[in-house]
Amino acid sequence: MSIANSLAGKHVVVMGGTSGIGLAIAEHALAAGARVTAASRNPARTAGSVPAEIATEQVDITSAASIDALLERVGIFDHLAISAGATALGTVRELDSAEARAFMDTKFWGAYNGVRAAADRIAKDGSIVLIGGIASRKHGPGRPTMSAINAALESFGKANAVDLAPVRVNVIAPGLVETPAFDDVPTDVRERLLTQYIASVPVARVGLPEDIASTALFLMTNGYVTGSVVDVDGGVQLT
Ligand SMILES: NC(=O)c1ccc[n+]([C@@H]2O[C@H](COP(=O)([O-])OP(=O)(O)OC[C@H]3O[C@@H](n4cnc5c(N)ncnc54)[C@H](OP(=O)(O)O)[C@@H]3O)[C@@H](O)[C@H]2O)c1
Repeated sequence: MSIANSLAGKHVVVMGGTSGIGLAIAEHALAAGARVTAASRNPARTAGSVPAEIATEQVDITSAASIDALLERVGIFDHLAISAGATALGTVRELDSAEARAFMDTKFWGAYNGVRAAADRIAKDGSIVLIGGIASRKHGPGRPTMSAINAALESFGKANAVDLAPVRVNVIAPGLVETPAFDDVPTDVRERLLTQYIASVPVARVGLPEDIASTALFLMTNGYVTGSVVDVDGGVQLT
């Protein structure tokens, strides 16, 4: 007997849902029978890659007012995934505090804005999925800001699983996932990054957005999981 909740007929909102991991979550939810809204700052930029059945909306998650306006427009919803953010690379010598703060403003305070706006609007049997990252606990060179943001998100997710119950709140910590986020990275740097990762992880490949999306759907539909941080990282912590 399965007691998993179905997504059929549910409304799933994905902030950062027009590209990469967020878009994969939106597509998986759509395939599972949900009505899906994907929001980002500039949905027109990626219009060609978002299926027509997914409604797109504009939002800037660094602005609480922008998120409030989005959630007023979309109406009742059951699940929220927040996958907006940029990769915060750079040592403390390279990033000044204003640059580091901008990453935090999007990925941590953006999630704060999203969770806060959803708290009294989301269905009581619904859930929130935050996308953190394994840099929270797998430390490597040049990413203290990313590590701090992802660690903060993990604790934020767990604490909200207590405060917002019965709404469930979970966090996914991906390892390296090939997404358009790397489009602006010089080809040689990107290739070196990917090759090193593949050589170091037990599964001998980088992640695909689908690897993270299937986990997000598990977290939305399994009503007994809350306050969890699920590592989807190819085993990188073992190396
Ligand atoms: N890729 C990886 O290896 C990896 C690993 C671990 C964790 N993550 C995390 O996963 C999340 C998604 O990354 P990704 O690789 O899928 O990146 P991506 O392909 O660049 O997608 C990012 C999405 O977020 C949106 N976005 C960015 N800033 C926003 C804002 N202020 N308000 C609303 N939407 C915003 C973007 O659309 P617009 O530009 O139109 O706003 C886009 O839809 C990030 O938090 C990232 O840190 C990624």
